[in-house]
Amino acid sequence: MAQQQVFDSNCMTLTRFVLAEQKKVPTATGDLSQLLTSIQTAVKAVSSAVRRAGLAHLYGMAGSTNVQGEDVKKLDVLSNELFVNMLASSYTVNMLVSEENETVIEIETEKRGKYIVCFDPLDGSSNIDCLVSIGSIFGIFKKTNESNDIDIKNALQPGRTMVAAGYALYGSATMMVLSLGKGSGVNGFMLDPALGEFLLTERDIKIPRKGNIYSINEGYTHQWDDIITKYIIQKKDPKYGKPYGARYIGSMVADVHRTLKYGGIFMYPASKQSPNGKLRLLYEGNPMAFIVEEAGGVATNGKIPILDIQPTALHQRCPIFLGSKDDVNELLEMYNV
Ligand code: AHM
Ligand code: MG
Repeated sequence: MAQQQVFDSNCMTLTRFVLAEQKKVPTATGDLSQLLTSIQTAVKAVSSAVRRAGLAHLYGMAGSTNVQGEDVKKLDVLSNELFVNMLASSYTVNMLVSEENETVIEIETEKRGKYIVCFDPLDGSSNIDCLVSIGSIFGIFKKTNESNDIDIKNALQPGRTMVAAGYALYGSATMMVLSLGKGSGVNGFMLDPALGEFLLTERDIKIPRKGNIYSINEGYTHQWDDIITKYIIQKKDPKYGKPYGARYIGSMVADVHRTLKYGGIFMYPASKQSPNGKLRLLYEGNPMAFIVEEAGGVATNGKIPILDIQPTALHQRCPIFLGSKDDVNELLEMYNV
């Protein structure tokens, strides 16, 4: 029996991967690589805090509410501080948009660079205290003008113009999934706790063309429109084929990661109470749509691709349907799109 390789002396770390990609672009300055190193550090620190939260008294509320009126947990606050501090000192960003901050975070003039990062430092807050998977999400844009001044227009670009996007999943292991721009594909890097490094474990992830899982909060059934109601009924009725399985974690990162791996559809629709749904465009919808499209899937608000929406406000919400091409297209056909 061939001896199993237990230690890879030539492992592909995330840093090494990013540098190799950077070298493919002759005009690259290295700023994006530097920025991604800062994100990696923040993610490693959040991962460490998530793993030790119960021992380090990090569970529970911070005692405040955020801009959307939601209760903020201690880990939300810590994760936001880590992202803001690491990014603000990277000398690569001009301003930041965080789920936890009402307005843009302006970087000190002498530390400004050309990028804008929109992020949710810790998504799935309601799952923190019961040890269910949570995550971080980020999308990276480039300024559209030469000036170093803060211009909110730079944060309100359609997702299609993103230069990179990714997420970190704090699940049974910590994994970072990243796309370095249109046509570059999606790659997954697992955190090796012994090395403290992310190692390439999933090369060129492609979402199955069709899955057999639907993912939606069915507690809100009475608030759905007729099309969603009909679609979900059909997914469960053997008359329309083998019924789909239902999976809903309530952490977008975990639900999207499963959809990426196994296929199917993830949905957070509009409801009578929330006409734009719950999820936020800039730091939840856009980065996930970027990853899903790069992996060969579809991400839409039910009318147009998420990535084509022109944002008008930092914390705007949008309905989200994403996943396998055939599954999402089936829903779009029912909407006559
Ligand atoms: P958060 O940013 O406050 O954590 O909320 C976002 C989360 C998503 O991760 C998840 O998809 C959704 O909220 C779940 O909401 P619901 O409990 O309404 O199903
Ligand atoms: Mg969130």
